Formats: sequence, structure tokens, C-alpha cells
Amino acid sequence: MSARTPLVVGNWKLNGNRELLGEMVPALQTLDATQVESVICPPFVFLAEDTDGVQKGAQSIASQDSGAFTGEVSGAMLREVGCHYVIVGHSERRALFGETDEVVAEKVKATLNAGLIPIVCVGETEQERESDETMAVITRQVKAVMDVLPSFSDSLVFAYEPVWAIGTGKTASCEQAEEVHRNIRQILISYNHELGNTTRILYGGSVKPENSKELFSSENIDGGLIGGASLKVDDFLQICNSALA
Ligand code: PGA
Repeated sequence: MSARTPLVVGNWKLNGNRELLGEMVPALQTLDATQVESVICPPFVFLAEDTDGVQKGAQSIASQDSGAFTGEVSGAMLREVGCHYVIVGHSERRALFGETDEVVAEKVKATLNAGLIPIVCVGETEQERESDETMAVITRQVKAVMDVLPSFSDSLVFAYEPVWAIGTGKTASCEQAEEVHRNIRQILISYNHELGNTTRILYGGSVKPENSKELFSSENIDGGLIGGASLKVDDFLQICNSALA
């Protein structure tokens, strides 16, 4: 097995309920966690539920530790209820909630400081791809995070999510995705050769059971960040299984 154990993360966004969690947990317990790691990221209120060993992640985090920040949830609180991961800088947070590269970098630091693993999302819009700016955008987004970390953490995970592929049914081709993933890895390697090679880089954007196996078989695609298909137990389990070598 490669040093990079495949990771498949379900991002429920503003969807789901206790019942879905209750159905998802036993399904994911059938997976061999040494072969494929799976994580569920339901809305905050469900994170305190006992998932019997199935890993949980949050969809966002406060950049502050505590204080007068109405509506926010801190890393320490997420850790206290048994979270392992935090999705940071999802394109919906960037576009709809004003999260700039600087805010994303602060949230990555807050995640690591709490002992949690950030899944840092990067990706270009359709317009940026059409005007050939894909790698400039990705490079800026990755460096904004890497430049403020005191050291390269072995807990980092990145996710390449082309904005035009999220929730649209349009998936990047394996070649398009692999090209960006390879580039992200080169950037990471420029910070630390060994850790750049072992950092997992997930693909996200309209991943389904029909396309996941091919995507995950690419050399630098180490799993997926799944939106819509993570709300269907059978589909999500199939996607997790397709990450097995
Ligand atoms: P999608 O969403 O799988 O529904 O395209 C992916 C994501 O936003 O993480």
C-alpha cells in the first residue's frame, strides 16, 4: 500500500438529519479503515452524536479560540465532541461567506492548533479556467496557506475542487484533475520534499459511483470530497470502496 491511505470525505453541506447519520454509520463500519479512511461531515449540530468509531469532520471552524463571536464554533469545541477533520476554504464559504485567502489561512492555523486535520479546498471558477488562470489561482490559494504555517504539518490534506464541477454534474476529466493535482504536489514539495510527497490531495466536484474509480486510480488523486453523493448511503459506500487499490 502506498504511504497515502485513500481518504473519502462526505460533505453534507446544509442537508441530512439524525436518521441519515444512523444509516450511514453502520455502512461505513463495514470498511477496512487501514485500506480506506472515510469521514462524515454533517452540519455542526449532529457532530456531537456518537458515530461508533466512524470519523467525523466539521464543514467550517472559527478562526478565533473563544469570545464574542456569535454563531461560531471553535476548534477546541469540535475536538471535544470527537471531530478529527475540518473542511476549510470550501468554495461555497469563499464565495458566499466572504472567506478570503487570508481568512482561510487563519482557519487552517486554528484547525491545526486544536489538533485537528484541515482539508484545505482550492479550485478555479469556470471563467478562470477559460482564461487560462487555473494554475495561477491554485498556486495563490495553496501558497496563501503554506506561507503562514510555522512548519509543514504532516496533518494537512488538500482538496482540489474546480468550482465549475461542484454540484453541476460536470466532472473534471481524469487528465484535467491529475494535471492540477500534480501541480499542487509540486508546490507542496517545494516547501518540504518528504511531506509534499505524503500529503493527501483529494478531488471533489460531481464525484459519483460511476466516475470515482477512474478518478481515484490517478497517481496523485488520493481520494475524494463528496457532496451530493454523500447523502446516499449506497452511493457513498460504493465511492469509498472504489478508493481501494
Ligand atoms: P458535489 O460537491 O459532489 O455535490 O459536486 C462537492 C463539494 O462541494 O465538496
